[in-house]
Amino acid sequence: MNKQISRRNLIKLLGISGASIPLTGLINSKEINLIKNSKESIPIKLSSNENPYGPSEKVRDAIVSAFDEVCRYPYSEPYNRISQLEKKIAKREGVDPGMVLVTGGSNEGLRATGRLFGIEKKEIIACKPTYLALMTYAKEFDCKINWVPLDKELKYDLNEMKNRISDKTSMIFICNPNNPTGTILDSNALENFCLNISKKTCVFVDEAYYDYSINDGYPTMTKLVRKGHNIIVSRTFSKVYGLAGLRIGYLISNKERISQLKKCTMAGTNILASHAAINAYDDIEFFNYSLNKNNQGLNFLYSLFEDLGLEYKKSYTNFVFFKSGHHIDKVQDFMKKKNILVGRAFPPYFNWCRISTGKMEDLEKFSIALKDFYKT
Ligand SMILES: Cc1ncc(COP(=O)(O)O)c(C=O)c1O
Repeated sequence: MNKQISRRNLIKLLGISGASIPLTGLINSKEINLIKNSKESIPIKLSSNENPYGPSEKVRDAIVSAFDEVCRYPYSEPYNRISQLEKKIAKREGVDPGMVLVTGGSNEGLRATGRLFGIEKKEIIACKPTYLALMTYAKEFDCKINWVPLDKELKYDLNEMKNRISDKTSMIFICNPNNPTGTILDSNALENFCLNISKKTCVFVDEAYYDYSINDGYPTMTKLVRKGHNIIVSRTFSKVYGLAGLRIGYLISNKERISQLKKCTMAGTNILASHAAINAYDDIEFFNYSLNKNNQGLNFLYSLFEDLGLEYKKSYTNFVFFKSGHHIDKVQDFMKKKNILVGRAFPPYFNWCRISTGKMEDLEKFSIALKDFYKT
């Protein structure tokens, strides 16, 4: 019997098991990367808005080269990679390095803000459904959340938020583009809102999905932070850069606010994540590749929903919110049996479902499963 593993079988074997064996001499580094990326994900995960193509080859190399530094703290010289990254972000955003705080995922930044404002025991105004991390944490400190429903287009209702401002308000939270709806606010409307409202209270703008609208020229609210307005912006390396598992994100605000928020952080990020983010920022090729793949995924999903006559929201993110017409529990259960994970329930939109773009092969499986769902 021929015991030699053929090149094709080796690729298949690695794809299925993810086995790690030395490949040098058998295939080149580009193919090694392809194999890693072609690793089949079971169950198919279309539930957390990750970028399954990441990290890029350049970032993988940077992480491996940084291993010798793992014995060092990432915040003291000469290994202060966090401050190096903060300087890099600051340069890109046109702000002072003291206006940037790198955190363990943007979630840590959201929680630190929830803690800082929550402890005032006043009121945070936010729309629902949205990304909840900041409000959930603030509630732990007995802060009240004044929930505003989304408008008819499933967008943040800025007028109603403005109407609810009182002397009890400590902060306004806006997620733009919003998770789970994928909708984006009119840029002038948002800018005017932030300009006016930040005179009365702090405005937090969660821009986790900002990168997906960058090519449309959508403005970031960091431009208002730069001008000294009372605004905090959060961003992440978890989405288009494909680094969700490394936990790295950041906040941008005025220096005083950043130093208050720094005191509310818990663990921060780590040296490998910092190296990864520093290199990810420069990898424009991968950034564009990810955006292209995401657009392919979005268009595929739009066509699927149109074929099935399902309402959906045009997305400015890496997921689509569609009206399944059935309770989300039923959709989730059905998909789970097909080894596909979809987004959680987003009350009060129980008949809607959020689906991440994932890889094309995963979306094809989702498409078959969804068509089956409507046959049963
Ligand atoms: C709107 C929004 N903000 C923040 C986050 C948190 O991301 P991370 O902590 O990975 O940076 C997410 C995660 O999905 C999100 O959807």
